[in-house]
Amino acid sequence: MTGILLLEADVSAGEDLLTAAAGLGLDAYAATHEDLFGHYRPELTAKITAPVFTDFSRPETALADLTAFCRTAGIRGIVPCWEFLTPLATRLAAALGLPGHLPGRADACRNKRLMAEAFAAHGVPSPRTLTAPDHATLSRRIEAAGLRFPLVVKPAENAASIGVSVVRSADGIPAAARLAQAQTHKLPHGIALDTTLLAQEHVDGAEFSVETLVTDGAVHHLTITEKFTTEGTSRAELGHTVPAELPPDVSGSVYAATAALMALGLRNGIAHTELKVDPDGRPQVIEVGARPPGDHIMKLVKEALGIDVARACLETVLGRRPDLTPRRRAAAAIRFLTAPEAGTLRWISALPRGEHILATSLSKMPGDEVGGPQDNMGRLGQIMLRADTAAEANAAAVEALRGVTVTMATRW
Ligand SMILES: Nc1ncnc2c1ncn2[C@@H]1O[C@H](COP(=O)(O)OP(=O)(O)O)[C@@H](O)[C@H]1O
Ligand SMILES: [Mg+2]
Repeated sequence: MTGILLLEADVSAGEDLLTAAAGLGLDAYAATHEDLFGHYRPELTAKITAPVFTDFSRPETALADLTAFCRTAGIRGIVPCWEFLTPLATRLAAALGLPGHLPGRADACRNKRLMAEAFAAHGVPSPRTLTAPDHATLSRRIEAAGLRFPLVVKPAENAASIGVSVVRSADGIPAAARLAQAQTHKLPHGIALDTTLLAQEHVDGAEFSVETLVTDGAVHHLTITEKFTTEGTSRAELGHTVPAELPPDVSGSVYAATAALMALGLRNGIAHTELKVDPDGRPQVIEVGARPPGDHIMKLVKEALGIDVARACLETVLGRRPDLTPRRRAAAAIRFLTAPEAGTLRWISALPRGEHILATSLSKMPGDEVGGPQDNMGRLGQIMLRADTAAEANAAAVEALRGVTVTMATRW
């Protein structure tokens, strides 16, 4: 049987990919750490042919281990499920001669410093970016370059909005840098992070992501998703709607996403391009994830448009031609429940049911310590919805969230 290797399957897209693998009659192997596999949910392990153990914190060892495994097991396609493993996936596919991306640009698909350089070199519309190893150097470079506040300060390598903050004046740089450099290794695998600081022009305006499959360098954009985040100094994601309610002309966003994917050398695989459209209608690419979209966006696309993105992703990395024809024109949304502040969760009211609600789930219980809404780690649960149009889905989401009360324990 044809085999596929998922690099870390214990992510939100993992179950969808494993279900799709079963539908395609593939053997599905999952590469992870031996101690982490014990924590895999039974829904995942039931769909995995066998786990493959390695150590992702040692990229060269992992590449050697997995190359040897894939040769023996006859693996025909590699999927990076976890963002931090996209460079490894590209190198592994190249070592095996399987469909993948240009290996020379593998690190630029993950590292925001290299990504900014690739965007600048290829003329991809994106915010002006400066980098520095520490806050004092960053402050000097901001002044010397005349970069105007507000700026976004973030680490070269992290995700889920961790360490990202909006800074309104030079006084805010040291604290933003401390936050950006707080994590040096990514759990649960212990992958070393590049803590180089980025200062980026802040792009005003609505935020979107473009969901794409690239097959032999041909770019197939599937849909544009609207993304909702917190305001203020942090940018935790609050939800997504597929398709986005769009301004009249979105062609610029589509061109910008295509340019970004080409600048990063994407050739075979799925991609999630985040961009903002400024008040003058100009798109600015924030980042590209060369991996399946998280936050159940694949489920939203399936619900809204009838495209099986997980299946298409697997077919693409196998070098096959996926069927990307939309089967319907509806809309779907997800919204995340957050606590108003970090602390002990005292109570959360019953989650809504009703005509538009597809599914709800809670990841925290009363008595749990929870984070505040400064990054995606503070989520309490989620609500997934569907409607005929994006406007209806968004209105239903507002209504659903209005019905949920979160109470925090009083601090004494
Ligand atoms: N230059 C920018 N201008 C405006 N908002 C930004 C900018 N950079 C990041 N953001 C906001 O912060 C969020 C997280 O930043 P991002 O660079 O995507 O890091 P992560 O890898 O953590 O997702 C973005 O989705 C966006 O809302
Ligand atoms: Mg992002």
